[in-house]
Amino acid sequence: MKKFFKIIGGLVAVVVLAVAGFVVFVQARGIPSYDVPKAPVSPAPVATAAQVALGEKIVLATCADCHRNPETNTLAGQKLRDLTPDFGAVYSANITQDKQHGIGAWTDAELTTLLRTGIGRDGRYRVIMPSFALMSDEDMQGVLAFLRSDNALTRATPTPSHEQEPSFLLKALTNTVMKPTPMPTAAVATPAPTDALAYGRYLVVGRYKCYECHSKDFKSNNPLEPEKSEGYLGGGNKLLNLQGQEVVSRNLTADAETGLGDWTEAQFAQAIKFGMSPHGPLNYPMPKYSQLADEEVKALYAYLKSVPKLQNATPEDKGAVAAR
Ligand code: HEC
Ligand code: HEC
Repeated sequence: MKKFFKIIGGLVAVVVLAVAGFVVFVQARGIPSYDVPKAPVSPAPVATAAQVALGEKIVLATCADCHRNPETNTLAGQKLRDLTPDFGAVYSANITQDKQHGIGAWTDAELTTLLRTGIGRDGRYRVIMPSFALMSDEDMQGVLAFLRSDNALTRATPTPSHEQEPSFLLKALTNTVMKPTPMPTAAVATPAPTDALAYGRYLVVGRYKCYECHSKDFKSNNPLEPEKSEGYLGGGNKLLNLQGQEVVSRNLTADAETGLGDWTEAQFAQAIKFGMSPHGPLNYPMPKYSQLADEEVKALYAYLKSVPKLQNATPEDKGAVAAR
């Protein structure tokens, strides 16, 4: 018996030492840096009006909620408001054309590397900034064209980006599970809108990344194989509204009881474009996709109907179920 306790005692000591070692390592290392991968260098594209318009639609829907600074009304960065304080305080960067504080001096290849992998041109891994690993080359070019355009949002703004104040948890995650994504090795095409299921999937995982907020937890999302994210599109991810109260993302699968099973396409369009769901108005941080084309709405609806149903009640279901 004595020997048994000695062994257990020894094991506990090893575990305690290992944990202490990990804590010291993470605190000392902080947010890690990596070698900067090279993006394929394409000849500087001359942006067309159509590219800028495509980029504007994507940036307004996908980047602006995080990067718009309410004081300058440009993409000069701000404190992320919908992020759980468990991660510490995280600030989006200045991505206006300012050469010193924004991305005015970044090359297209450097921007592409950051957006694809999460690694900045200085090698530092950018935290919470989503990786656009699955965005098509065409959409990526549109985003870059818009960031370089003379839109009021991208106007050079001399506001320095705020330094990050990551919690121990966020530092630990970036040293373990949150990792840069690899640079795609082949061209990434936008599926044809006529193929509604493929196009709808692309919108959900590549262009608008609905699945990131609408799966179970940011921590268990899989950026390269999104369908392998825990609770893919079943909702339950805990976010915060502008008052700092918890808002739980909803189940977008076709489950009749807890998902979108009984929604018509018109109800779905109202919800995603204007934030009006049959359950009532939708709160921040659900974006308002007011610029969506009809073919995008149709494809999203068709694709969401096709993904494996998950039964996962989220807070708003209580009232909805009782009212039936
Ligand atoms: C969930 C919020 C969020 C979204 C959405 C988002 N970003 Fe970011 N972004 C961040 C944060 C936070 C940082 C700073 C991270 C850091 O410094 O570690 C950042 C950093 C960046 C940087 C690096 C700038 C620098 O100087 O370090 C660029 C470029 C960028 N974002 C562009 C974009 C573009 C383009 C989009 C849309 C396609 C986008 N971001 C969407 C949160 C976001
Ligand atoms: C930044 C996180 C985020 C992103 C990105 C996002 N959503 Fe949401 N969504 C939410 C949250 C949070 C709610 C719940 C809002 C509430 O409870 O008021 C929500 C609610 C909804 C609802 C209402 C469902 C119901 O049962 O009432 C629909 C539909 C929806 N989202 C679809 C989408 C689609 C489609 C996309 C991508 C095109 C998307 N969302 C992208 C966070 C997000």
